Amino acid sequence: MRDIPLWVEDEDDDDPTKSVWLEGDSLAPYLGTPAESLDAVLSTARIDSTDVLVDLGCGDGRLPIWAVARFGARRGVGVELDEDLAAKAVKHAQSRGVADRVRIIHADIETNDKLVRAALADATVLALFLLPEGIARLEPHLVRHLEADHQNRILCIGWAPPNLEPAKIVPLGPSSGAGLDVFLFDRSSLRTSEQ
Ligand SMILES: C[S@@+](CC[C@H](N)C(=O)[O-])C[C@H]1O[C@@H](n2cnc3c(N)ncnc32)[C@H](O)[C@@H]1O
Repeated sequence: MRDIPLWVEDEDDDDPTKSVWLEGDSLAPYLGTPAESLDAVLSTARIDSTDVLVDLGCGDGRLPIWAVARFGARRGVGVELDEDLAAKAVKHAQSRGVADRVRIIHADIETNDKLVRAALADATVLALFLLPEGIARLEPHLVRHLEADHQNRILCIGWAPPNLEPAKIVPLGPSSGAGLDVFLFDRSSLRTSEQ
């Protein structure tokens, strides 16, 4: 891991005047993976310089940016529905000096199947921090990702897909606020689900 300045939460992240999330209008409201948990989350998948991490619903881009800047991942990609968050992610990538290796795409992953497939084509690690219903809807992509290469992994923060067996569950502890877990899925998750 590279010794770089810790991730600092933006001051306006808890601004109650920001847009209100209505159930059903997206796969999850915005809540960043706690800054204190970024190392624990990415260590769970043993991210290294061979990895390309794709975060579907990337918020302010912290996971793909941290994977590249701190763990030396080859590349990072984040797809985000919210225009302001996507713009913020681009700025964070620039200020961390990794804009050449982190691509932020402003798009709806739910209605853009082609884009998701393209984003996952060369991904090794897929990250998701979405509500259970959102993850369930994306499960066909998750299965395809694990089938595509035996090195591929999936990190789910908070909630996991219903039909895949986690290879590992790591509690993020009180620093995650709500006591979230991170779930790691790999090829073994498929075998288990096929039994
Ligand atoms: C819980 S946040 C997680 C943010 C980030 N992955 C992290 O861990 O810090 C979920 C994010 O998914 C985004 N999102 C929800 N539905 C989406 C969709 N259909 N397409 C793209 N992004 C979406 C939200 O705008 C929000 O930023």
